[in-house]
Amino acid sequence: MVKAVVLGAAGGIGQPLSLLLKINPDVTELSLYDIVNAPGVAVDLSHIATPAKVEGFLPPPKDSQTTPNEGLRKALAGADLIVIPAGVPRKPGEANAVFTTLHSDDLFKINAGIVRDLATAIATTAPKAFVLVISNPVNSTVPIVAEVFKNHNVFDPKRLFGVTTLDVVRASTFVAEVLGDRSLSSSITVPVVGGHSGVTIVPLLSQSSHRLPEGLDTSTVDSLVNRIQSGGDEVVKAKDGAGSATLSMAYAGAEFAVKIIRAIKGERGIIVPSYVNLAADQEGGAALRKDLGKDLDYFSSPVELGPNGVESIKGLGTITPSERALVNAALPDLISNIDKGVSFIQGPK
Ligand code: NAI
Repeated sequence: MVKAVVLGAAGGIGQPLSLLLKINPDVTELSLYDIVNAPGVAVDLSHIATPAKVEGFLPPPKDSQTTPNEGLRKALAGADLIVIPAGVPRKPGEANAVFTTLHSDDLFKINAGIVRDLATAIATTAPKAFVLVISNPVNSTVPIVAEVFKNHNVFDPKRLFGVTTLDVVRASTFVAEVLGDRSLSSSITVPVVGGHSGVTIVPLLSQSSHRLPEGLDTSTVDSLVNRIQSGGDEVVKAKDGAGSATLSMAYAGAEFAVKIIRAIKGERGIIVPSYVNLAADQEGGAALRKDLGKDLDYFSSPVELGPNGVESIKGLGTITPSERALVNAALPDLISNIDKGVSFIQGPK
Protein backbone atom coordinates (compact mmCIF):
# COMPACT_ATOMS: atom_id res chain seq x y z
CA MET A 1 0.00 0.00 0.00
CA VAL A 2 1.67 3.20 -1.13
CA LYS A 3 0.03 6.61 -1.03
CA ALA A 4 1.71 9.06 -3.37
CA VAL A 5 0.90 12.77 -3.42
CA VAL A 6 1.71 15.29 -6.14
CA LEU A 7 1.72 18.97 -5.13
CA GLY A 8 1.41 21.12 -8.24
CA ALA A 9 -0.36 18.24 -9.99
CA ALA A 10 -2.16 20.31 -12.64
CA GLY A 11 1.02 21.81 -14.10
CA GLY A 12 3.22 20.96 -17.05
CA ILE A 13 5.24 18.48 -14.99
CA GLY A 14 2.49 17.61 -12.52
CA GLN A 15 0.03 16.16 -15.05
CA PRO A 16 2.32 13.69 -16.86
CA LEU A 17 4.02 12.84 -13.56
CA SER A 18 0.63 12.04 -12.04
CA LEU A 19 -0.16 9.90 -15.07
CA LEU A 20 3.08 7.93 -14.63
CA LEU A 21 2.36 7.42 -10.93
CA LYS A 22 -1.21 6.33 -11.73
CA ILE A 23 0.08 3.60 -14.04
CA ASN A 24 2.53 2.36 -11.41
CA PRO A 25 0.86 -0.77 -9.95
CA ASP A 26 2.61 -0.24 -6.59
CA VAL A 27 0.75 3.03 -6.01
CA THR A 28 -2.57 2.27 -4.35
CA GLU A 29 -3.61 5.83 -3.56
CA LEU A 30 -2.76 8.97 -5.51
CA SER A 31 -3.68 12.41 -4.19
CA LEU A 32 -3.34 15.41 -6.44
CA TYR A 33 -3.20 18.95 -5.10
CA ASP A 34 -2.90 22.21 -7.00
CA ILE A 35 -4.27 25.72 -6.67
CA VAL A 36 -6.17 25.05 -9.95
CA ASN A 37 -7.74 22.11 -11.77
CA ALA A 38 -6.51 19.23 -9.57
CA PRO A 39 -9.99 17.64 -9.22
CA GLY A 40 -10.36 17.62 -13.02
CA VAL A 41 -6.99 15.98 -13.56
CA ALA A 42 -7.85 13.45 -10.84
CA VAL A 43 -11.18 12.45 -12.42
CA ASP A 44 -9.50 12.13 -15.82
CA LEU A 45 -6.78 9.85 -14.40
CA SER A 46 -9.26 7.90 -12.28
CA HIS A 47 -10.67 6.30 -15.45
CA ILE A 48 -7.37 4.53 -16.15
CA ALA A 49 -7.65 0.85 -15.28
CA THR A 50 -4.89 0.60 -12.67
CA PRO A 51 -5.23 0.03 -8.89
CA ALA A 52 -4.56 3.55 -7.60
CA LYS A 53 -7.52 5.42 -6.17
CA VAL A 54 -7.13 9.03 -7.37
CA GLU A 55 -8.47 12.13 -5.66
CA GLY A 56 -7.91 15.79 -6.44
CA PHE A 57 -7.87 18.68 -3.97
CA LEU A 58 -7.90 22.47 -4.11
CA PRO A 59 -7.30 25.14 -1.47
CA PRO A 60 -10.40 26.85 -0.06
CA PRO A 61 -11.81 29.65 -2.24
CA LYS A 62 -10.09 33.00 -1.60
CA ASP A 63 -13.28 34.61 -0.22
CA SER A 64 -14.01 31.68 2.11
CA GLN A 65 -13.64 32.09 5.85
CA THR A 66 -11.82 28.76 6.16
CA THR A 67 -8.25 29.64 7.04
CA PRO A 68 -6.72 26.15 7.34
CA ASN A 69 -6.14 24.60 3.94
CA GLU A 70 -8.38 21.55 4.26
CA GLY A 71 -7.75 20.45 0.67
CA LEU A 72 -4.00 20.33 1.19
CA ARG A 73 -4.38 18.62 4.55
CA LYS A 74 -6.63 15.92 3.06
CA ALA A 75 -4.26 15.41 0.12
CA LEU A 76 -1.31 14.92 2.46
CA ALA A 77 -2.92 12.79 5.17
CA GLY A 78 -1.28 9.35 5.33
CA ALA A 79 1.18 10.09 2.52
CA ASP A 80 4.17 7.80 2.04
CA LEU A 81 5.68 9.76 -0.80
CA ILE A 82 5.20 13.43 -1.71
CA VAL A 83 6.50 14.86 -4.97
CA ILE A 84 6.62 18.67 -5.33
CA PRO A 85 6.62 20.13 -8.84
CA ALA A 86 4.63 23.22 -7.75
CA GLY A 87 6.01 26.54 -8.88
CA VAL A 88 6.80 28.79 -11.77
CA PRO A 89 9.06 27.59 -14.59
CA ARG A 90 11.62 29.85 -16.22
CA LYS A 91 11.21 31.50 -19.61
CA PRO A 92 13.48 32.07 -22.62
CA GLY A 93 16.25 34.51 -21.87
CA GLU A 94 16.28 33.48 -18.23
CA ALA A 95 19.46 31.49 -17.94
CA ASN A 96 19.69 28.35 -15.86
CA ALA A 97 21.28 30.43 -13.16
CA VAL A 98 18.31 32.83 -13.09
CA PHE A 99 17.00 31.40 -9.87
CA THR A 100 20.31 31.77 -8.17
CA THR A 101 21.62 35.22 -9.04
CA LEU A 102 20.93 37.98 -6.59
CA HIS A 103 19.54 40.14 -9.41
CA SER A 104 16.73 37.83 -10.40
CA ASP A 105 15.02 37.38 -7.11
CA ASP A 106 11.43 37.44 -8.27
CA LEU A 107 11.15 33.85 -9.50
CA PHE A 108 13.22 32.67 -6.57
CA LYS A 109 10.90 34.35 -4.09
CA ILE A 110 7.76 32.96 -5.74
CA ASN A 111 8.98 29.38 -5.79
CA ALA A 112 10.67 29.65 -2.41
CA GLY A 113 7.41 30.91 -0.87
CA ILE A 114 5.36 28.16 -2.51
CA VAL A 115 7.78 25.46 -1.33
CA ARG A 116 7.95 26.94 2.19
CA ASP A 117 4.15 26.88 2.53
CA LEU A 118 3.84 23.35 1.17
CA ALA A 119 6.66 22.17 3.47
CA THR A 120 4.86 23.71 6.45
CA ALA A 121 1.74 21.72 5.60
CA ILE A 122 3.80 18.53 5.20
CA ALA A 123 5.55 19.13 8.54
CA THR A 124 2.22 19.31 10.33
CA THR A 125 0.31 16.65 8.37
CA ALA A 126 2.72 14.03 6.96
CA PRO A 127 6.10 14.52 8.65
CA LYS A 128 7.21 10.92 8.06
CA ALA A 129 6.67 10.95 4.30
CA PHE A 130 9.50 10.81 1.79
CA VAL A 131 9.65 14.24 0.17
CA LEU A 132 10.91 14.64 -3.40
CA VAL A 133 11.53 18.25 -4.41
CA ILE A 134 11.36 19.14 -8.11
CA SER A 135 10.53 22.87 -7.81
CA ASN A 136 13.50 24.99 -8.82
CA PRO A 137 15.99 26.13 -7.75
CA VAL A 138 16.48 22.67 -6.23
CA ASN A 139 19.85 23.77 -4.76
CA SER A 140 17.88 26.21 -2.55
CA THR A 141 14.38 24.69 -2.30
CA VAL A 142 15.68 21.51 -0.62
CA PRO A 143 17.36 23.56 2.16
CA ILE A 144 14.10 25.54 2.45
CA VAL A 145 12.11 22.36 3.11
CA ALA A 146 14.76 21.19 5.59
CA GLU A 147 14.70 24.48 7.52
CA VAL A 148 10.89 24.43 7.73
CA PHE A 149 11.02 20.84 9.00
CA LYS A 150 13.71 21.79 11.53
CA ASN A 151 11.51 24.61 12.81
CA HIS A 152 8.78 22.01 13.38
CA ASN A 153 11.23 19.49 14.90
CA VAL A 154 10.41 16.90 12.26
CA PHE A 155 13.49 17.01 10.02
CA ASP A 156 14.76 13.57 9.00
CA PRO A 157 17.54 14.11 6.43
CA LYS A 158 17.18 10.53 5.23
CA ARG A 159 13.72 11.30 3.85
CA LEU A 160 14.32 14.51 1.91
CA PHE A 161 15.51 14.39 -1.71
CA GLY A 162 16.21 16.97 -4.38
CA VAL A 163 15.29 15.37 -7.68
CA THR A 164 18.30 15.68 -10.00
CA THR A 165 17.31 12.67 -12.08
CA LEU A 166 16.69 14.73 -15.21
CA ASP A 167 20.41 15.54 -15.32
CA VAL A 168 21.14 11.81 -15.06
CA VAL A 169 18.58 10.96 -17.76
CA ARG A 170 20.01 13.63 -20.06
CA ALA A 171 23.54 12.36 -19.44
CA SER A 172 22.49 8.82 -20.48
CA THR A 173 20.75 10.11 -23.60
CA PHE A 174 23.55 12.42 -24.72
CA VAL A 175 26.29 9.83 -24.03
CA ALA A 176 24.36 7.31 -26.15
CA GLU A 177 24.24 9.91 -28.93
CA VAL A 178 28.02 10.41 -28.75
CA LEU A 179 28.44 6.63 -28.83
CA GLY A 180 26.24 6.63 -31.94
CA ASP A 181 23.75 4.11 -30.53
CA ARG A 182 20.51 5.48 -29.10
CA SER A 183 19.34 1.98 -28.20
CA LEU A 184 21.90 2.04 -25.39
CA SER A 185 20.46 5.14 -23.72
CA SER A 186 18.21 3.40 -21.20
CA SER A 187 21.02 1.12 -20.03
CA ILE A 188 23.72 3.80 -19.76
CA THR A 189 24.24 5.19 -16.27
CA VAL A 190 26.33 8.27 -15.62
CA PRO A 191 26.55 9.66 -12.07
CA VAL A 192 25.82 13.39 -12.01
CA VAL A 193 26.97 15.14 -8.84
CA GLY A 194 27.07 18.62 -7.29
CA GLY A 195 23.81 20.46 -7.63
CA HIS A 196 21.03 21.09 -10.11
CA SER A 197 21.69 24.29 -12.02
CA GLY A 198 24.33 25.49 -14.47
CA VAL A 199 27.91 24.85 -13.39
CA THR A 200 26.80 23.03 -10.26
CA ILE A 201 25.73 20.11 -12.49
CA VAL A 202 28.80 17.86 -12.76
CA PRO A 203 28.54 14.70 -14.86
CA LEU A 204 31.19 12.11 -14.00
CA LEU A 205 31.71 10.79 -17.52
CA SER A 206 34.72 8.75 -16.40
CA GLN A 207 32.28 6.65 -14.34
CA SER A 208 29.82 6.09 -17.20
CA SER A 209 28.70 2.47 -17.37
CA HIS A 210 29.54 2.67 -21.10
CA ARG A 211 32.96 4.20 -21.68
CA LEU A 212 33.38 6.99 -24.18
CA PRO A 213 35.73 6.05 -27.03
CA GLU A 214 39.43 6.20 -26.06
CA GLY A 215 41.09 9.34 -27.35
CA LEU A 216 37.85 11.29 -27.79
CA ASP A 217 38.95 14.89 -28.34
CA THR A 218 38.65 17.33 -25.47
CA SER A 219 36.26 19.63 -27.30
CA THR A 220 33.74 16.78 -27.79
CA VAL A 221 33.96 15.91 -24.09
CA ASP A 222 33.65 19.59 -23.12
CA SER A 223 30.59 20.08 -25.30
CA LEU A 224 29.03 16.92 -23.88
CA VAL A 225 29.54 18.24 -20.34
CA ASN A 226 28.20 21.62 -21.41
CA ARG A 227 25.12 20.05 -23.05
CA ILE A 228 24.31 18.09 -19.87
CA GLN A 229 24.75 21.25 -17.77
CA SER A 230 22.57 23.35 -20.03
CA GLY A 231 20.05 20.72 -21.19
CA GLY A 232 17.31 22.74 -19.52
CA ASP A 233 18.16 25.79 -21.66
CA GLU A 234 17.82 23.69 -24.82
CA VAL A 235 14.20 22.90 -23.90
CA VAL A 236 13.33 26.42 -22.70
CA LYS A 237 14.64 27.86 -25.98
CA ALA A 238 12.83 25.31 -28.14
CA LYS A 239 9.54 25.84 -26.29
CA ASP A 240 9.95 29.55 -26.95
CA GLY A 241 7.88 30.94 -24.10
CA ALA A 242 5.76 27.85 -23.37
CA GLY A 243 7.73 26.75 -20.31
CA SER A 244 10.64 24.51 -19.43
CA ALA A 245 11.16 20.73 -19.46
CA THR A 246 7.93 19.04 -18.42
CA LEU A 247 7.62 15.65 -20.14
CA SER A 248 11.24 14.59 -19.67
CA MET A 249 11.06 15.94 -16.10
CA ALA A 250 7.89 13.95 -15.42
CA TYR A 251 9.64 10.83 -16.76
CA ALA A 252 12.69 11.54 -14.58
CA GLY A 253 10.58 12.31 -11.50
CA ALA A 254 8.61 9.10 -11.93
CA GLU A 255 11.85 7.11 -12.39
CA PHE A 256 13.13 8.48 -9.10
CA ALA A 257 9.79 7.94 -7.34
CA VAL A 258 9.73 4.31 -8.52
CA LYS A 259 13.13 3.73 -6.94
CA ILE A 260 11.96 5.23 -3.66
CA ILE A 261 8.85 3.02 -3.75
CA ARG A 262 10.98 -0.08 -4.42
CA ALA A 263 13.18 0.87 -1.47
CA ILE A 264 10.15 1.46 0.79
CA LYS A 265 9.00 -2.04 -0.14
CA GLY A 266 12.30 -3.50 1.06
CA GLU A 267 14.45 -3.79 -2.05
CA ARG A 268 18.13 -3.32 -1.21
CA GLY A 269 21.08 -2.08 -3.22
CA ILE A 270 19.32 0.72 -5.16
CA ILE A 271 21.87 3.48 -5.78
CA VAL A 272 20.80 6.77 -7.37
CA PRO A 273 22.20 10.29 -7.49
CA SER A 274 20.16 12.75 -5.44
CA TYR A 275 20.68 16.14 -3.81
CA VAL A 276 20.57 15.41 -0.09
CA ASN A 277 21.51 16.85 3.29
CA LEU A 278 24.83 15.29 4.24
CA ALA A 279 23.56 14.55 7.75
CA ALA A 280 21.57 11.72 6.11
CA ASP A 281 24.70 9.58 6.54
CA GLN A 282 27.09 11.03 9.14
CA GLU A 283 30.06 8.94 8.05
CA GLY A 284 29.52 9.19 4.31
CA GLY A 285 28.66 12.88 4.63
CA ALA A 286 31.85 13.59 6.60
CA ALA A 287 33.95 11.69 4.05
CA LEU A 288 32.37 13.65 1.19
CA ARG A 289 32.95 16.99 2.98
CA LYS A 290 36.59 16.02 3.49
CA ASP A 291 36.94 15.08 -0.18
CA LEU A 292 35.36 18.40 -1.24
CA GLY A 293 37.42 20.38 1.26
CA LYS A 294 34.30 22.38 2.13
CA ASP A 295 31.99 22.28 5.06
CA LEU A 296 28.75 22.39 3.09
CA ASP A 297 25.49 20.71 4.13
CA TYR A 298 23.98 19.66 0.79
CA PHE A 299 25.41 17.91 -2.23
CA SER A 300 24.12 15.65 -4.96
CA SER A 301 25.92 12.35 -5.06
CA PRO A 302 24.99 8.72 -5.54
CA VAL A 303 23.10 7.53 -2.45
CA GLU A 304 22.00 4.04 -1.50
CA LEU A 305 18.30 3.83 -0.68
CA GLY A 306 16.67 1.68 1.98
CA PRO A 307 13.26 1.39 3.63
CA ASN A 308 14.02 4.46 5.76
CA GLY A 309 15.39 6.56 2.92
CA VAL A 310 19.09 7.35 2.49
CA GLU A 311 21.11 4.38 3.80
CA SER A 312 24.48 5.73 2.77
CA ILE A 313 26.07 8.55 0.80
CA LYS A 314 28.52 7.12 -1.68
CA GLY A 315 30.60 10.19 -2.47
CA LEU A 316 32.48 10.93 -5.65
CA GLY A 317 34.63 7.83 -6.01
CA THR A 318 37.69 8.16 -8.22
CA ILE A 319 37.39 11.16 -10.51
CA THR A 320 39.66 12.64 -13.17
CA PRO A 321 41.51 15.95 -12.74
CA SER A 322 39.10 17.67 -15.17
CA GLU A 323 36.11 16.36 -13.19
CA ARG A 324 37.76 17.61 -9.99
CA ALA A 325 38.07 21.03 -11.63
CA LEU A 326 34.33 20.96 -12.46
CA VAL A 327 33.48 19.98 -8.87
CA ASN A 328 35.66 22.81 -7.53
CA ALA A 329 34.00 25.26 -9.95
CA ALA A 330 30.56 24.13 -8.73
CA LEU A 331 31.22 24.74 -5.05
CA PRO A 332 30.98 28.57 -4.79
CA ASP A 333 27.58 28.67 -6.55
CA LEU A 334 26.33 25.69 -4.63
CA ILE A 335 27.33 27.16 -1.28
CA SER A 336 25.66 30.48 -2.07
CA ASN A 337 22.49 28.70 -3.31
CA ILE A 338 22.33 26.70 -0.07
CA ASP A 339 22.83 29.87 2.02
CA LYS A 340 20.10 31.59 0.05
CA GLY A 341 17.62 28.80 0.81
CA VAL A 342 18.54 28.64 4.50
CA SER A 343 18.37 32.45 4.85
CA PHE A 344 14.94 32.51 3.19
CA ILE A 345 13.60 30.68 6.25
CA GLN A 346 16.00 31.62 9.05
CA GLY A 347 16.79 35.17 7.95
CA PRO A 348 20.28 36.40 7.02
CA LYS A 349 23.20 35.14 9.16
P1 NAI B 1 3.80 24.88 -14.45
O1 NAI B 1 3.59 26.34 -14.29
O2 NAI B 1 3.34 24.24 -15.70
O3 NAI B 1 3.13 24.11 -13.24
C1 NAI B 1 3.29 24.49 -11.92
C2 NAI B 1 2.02 24.14 -11.19
O4 NAI B 1 2.21 24.51 -9.83
C3 NAI B 1 0.79 24.89 -11.71
O5 NAI B 1 -0.25 23.99 -12.00
C4 NAI B 1 0.42 25.81 -10.56
O6 NAI B 1 -0.96 26.04 -10.44
C5 NAI B 1 0.96 25.00 -9.38
N1 NAI B 1 1.12 25.80 -8.17
C6 NAI B 1 1.52 27.08 -8.05
N2 NAI B 1 1.49 27.44 -6.76
C7 NAI B 1 1.09 26.36 -6.06
C8 NAI B 1 0.85 26.10 -4.68
N3 NAI B 1 1.03 27.03 -3.75
N4 NAI B 1 0.44 24.87 -4.33
C9 NAI B 1 0.26 23.91 -5.26
N5 NAI B 1 0.44 24.09 -6.57
C10 NAI B 1 0.86 25.31 -6.95
O7 NAI B 1 5.36 24.61 -14.21
P2 NAI B 1 6.18 23.28 -14.55
O8 NAI B 1 6.75 23.39 -15.90
O9 NAI B 1 5.35 22.11 -14.19
O10 NAI B 1 7.41 23.44 -13.52
C11 NAI B 1 7.20 23.34 -12.14
C12 NAI B 1 8.50 23.53 -11.37
O11 NAI B 1 9.44 22.51 -11.69
C13 NAI B 1 9.23 24.85 -11.69
O12 NAI B 1 9.76 25.35 -10.49
C14 NAI B 1 10.35 24.41 -12.60
O13 NAI B 1 11.44 25.29 -12.59
C15 NAI B 1 10.69 23.09 -11.98
N6 NAI B 1 11.48 22.20 -12.83
C16 NAI B 1 12.36 21.37 -12.21
C17 NAI B 1 13.14 20.51 -12.93
C18 NAI B 1 14.10 19.61 -12.23
O14 NAI B 1 14.90 18.95 -12.92
N7 NAI B 1 14.09 19.49 -10.92
C19 NAI B 1 13.07 20.46 -14.40
C20 NAI B 1 12.07 21.31 -14.95
C21 NAI B 1 11.32 22.16 -14.18
